[in-house]
Amino acid sequence: MKVLLGITGCIAAYKAPELLRLLQKRGCEIHVAMTENAQNFVTATTLAALSRNHVFTGMFSDPDSVSGLDIAIDHIRLAHSVDLLLVAPATANALAKFANGIADDFLSTLYLATRAPVVIAPAMNSDMWSHPAVQANLRRLVSLGVSIVEPEEGYLAEGIIGKGRLAALETIVDRAFQAGAPPQDFRGDTVLVTAGPTCEDIDPVRFLTNRSSGKMGYQLAQAAQRRGARTLLVSGPTKLDPPGGVEFIDVRTTEQMREQVMKHLAEASIVIKAAAVSDFRPSATAGQKIKKDGQSLFLELVPNPDILKEVAAKKESRILVGFAAETESVLQNGLKKLEAKSLDLLVANDVSQPGAGFDSDTNIVTILTRDGKRLELGKRSKADVAEQILNEILAFRKRHA
Ligand code: PMT
Repeated sequence: MKVLLGITGCIAAYKAPELLRLLQKRGCEIHVAMTENAQNFVTATTLAALSRNHVFTGMFSDPDSVSGLDIAIDHIRLAHSVDLLLVAPATANALAKFANGIADDFLSTLYLATRAPVVIAPAMNSDMWSHPAVQANLRRLVSLGVSIVEPEEGYLAEGIIGKGRLAALETIVDRAFQAGAPPQDFRGDTVLVTAGPTCEDIDPVRFLTNRSSGKMGYQLAQAAQRRGARTLLVSGPTKLDPPGGVEFIDVRTTEQMREQVMKHLAEASIVIKAAAVSDFRPSATAGQKIKKDGQSLFLELVPNPDILKEVAAKKESRILVGFAAETESVLQNGLKKLEAKSLDLLVANDVSQPGAGFDSDTNIVTILTRDGKRLELGKRSKADVAEQILNEILAFRKRHA
């Protein structure tokens, strides 16, 4: 795998030569681009010696170039030729530039020019990490398909303990391989994923919905697509951009989601239902905005169709995966749903725990299978949970081949 290692200016940059060596040990060819600030922590000479390649340090500051133009052209050439862009460590400044499309140095320009998968391992002070602006940039990057290797809790350069230390180098290397050279183990499959909430209109301005952000389902769709599947994503309204390469079907209500799922069911070999579907809808939608008149308003709700149950009735040989968002007796309720909805796998989600379920970037789930397997996953990014669910689908299929 040909990797472009981007290094930005923070103390963790001293670990970059070791990261480079680990990637080389796994057979990678490495090219390095450093920001100006990164050169305060590690030298280009060290990285050139280790990588045995020219190290890019600036758009117009390269001693070998006849003019800045050579370098500007080089960044496009390099951007197009790598299998992966790995930025480690990434500062808050680098995240902000990538998230907002600012291209004012070699690395940020290269980020915009490449179509290779991007993995970013941030490192910074814990207060900076938790700042809403940094978190907003991270969310934006995740929605653009970037894999974030979250920093760890630990002893920081400032002498305090907090979250912000660069992730373990082995973890970064594993994530680099997952992103840059994903196994094509879903080639030949068509995976249909549902994601996000559904909205049920009360009147032209009000509706019933839930807190689903779509993140879990979008990560599943992206992972399936990257692992070679033709992927259909049927999504309720979210703020996310659809992952590249996925066939995106936009819906609003449960009835619309049902219609699209049933329309495409025949094409799907695997169905994964991560959407948080409204179980009820108003019995009628008012044509005009309902006016207040000082009196209580009673809404009559009628049950929505259970899409998963309808799919299960036409299951045939396809693999059917459901989710269960629970706040109590998670496993017992999960097992009941596995049975009641004739599923092959059920992802039981304890949505009462911090860092799990709705709208968070992480999740805590237990994957249950029809043949009695149980895999408990501690708190992980939704990208990792998605990969694990796909692994369990393949393992289940192998056991029942
Ligand atoms: O979108 P995020 O913010 O990332 O949050 C992720 C999530 C919490 C939404 C996701 O991980 C999750 O748990 N999704 C399922 C939520 C849910 O609606 O669970 P449920 O227990 O009500 O439904 C069980 C299953 O039946 C689900 O697969 C659901 O898609 C399906 N269902 C439910 C009702 C209905 N009328 N039709 C359905 O198909």
